[in-house]
Amino acid sequence: MARKKVTIVGAGATGGAMAQRLIERDVCDVVLQDDPQFAGTTHHGKALDESQAAAWEGFSHRITATDGWEETAGSDVVICTAGAPRKPGMSREELLNSNAAIVRAKVGEAARHSPNAVVMIFANPMDAMCHVAMQASGFPRERVIGQGGMLDSARYRYFVADALGVSPRDVYGFVIGGHTDTTMVPVVSQTRVGGVPLTDLLPSDQVQALVARAMRGGAEITELYKTGSAFYAPSSATVAMAEAVLLDQRRLMPCSVLHQGEYGIRDVFSGTVCQLGEGGVQRTFELPLTADERARVVKAAEATKDLVRLLEG
Ligand code: 2OP
Repeated sequence: MARKKVTIVGAGATGGAMAQRLIERDVCDVVLQDDPQFAGTTHHGKALDESQAAAWEGFSHRITATDGWEETAGSDVVICTAGAPRKPGMSREELLNSNAAIVRAKVGEAARHSPNAVVMIFANPMDAMCHVAMQASGFPRERVIGQGGMLDSARYRYFVADALGVSPRDVYGFVIGGHTDTTMVPVVSQTRVGGVPLTDLLPSDQVQALVARAMRGGAEITELYKTGSAFYAPSSATVAMAEAVLLDQRRLMPCSVLHQGEYGIRDVFSGTVCQLGEGGVQRTFELPLTADERARVVKAAEATKDLVRLLEG
């Protein structure tokens, strides 16, 4: 059986953390692609350094680095992390056109070399960057996926779990809508802890505080790091998505996908629950939302549409 291959474009903090998590799962070869103008030889250093962990981590797949694109050819999944990170005090939306130029160029090249890949987008503002990636690749809806909801849901589940003193694995809840501080929608009404509704376990002011912290989750981390944004949790979220596709796990994951009628929304990338497996998004699920949650999901999609209109080129 041919080995699976994943290209990670951009070998910064996030790309490096993703590469490490992914190669240690031992389910695919990993190619770390970067531009020597920005990365120097860092990506080569990261690939070789991590290769030398194989004996003790016990993985048999290969991790390599490249400045070009030939070595990325035939990838099953391409994860695009390239783009400037958010700095403290900065919104994700402020990165719009600078990151769009990078994503357009990188995804265009990656898609030319891996025409059957599933592309996963990390750069911000993430939902708008999915539009850029879809246009640059010419790929169908199933094969362009944004990772925001995965990360936002992980933060939300962690904060809920921490408040209740339970494992985050046993908090079942999704954050959908947009991947921005103001447009993400933690779906409180459908959050269950061991099957019990969250709203039965905590008073509403405490739930609202958890929701507010989850929505500012990315900003809180940039304030702590001071020079960049989160990378441990983002890498975890994205690698879980890649693994679901590579192994055809058919997992239900909150990701950004081009909506085609979900929640009455069309032709815009936004977060909803997607079944991820071979070929990318196999199906989407519409959560039963309260009227308020639904209105916020619709508003989130409108905000992304506004951003997409501001895209240059
Ligand atoms: C975050 O939320 C970087 O958008 C990413 O931390």
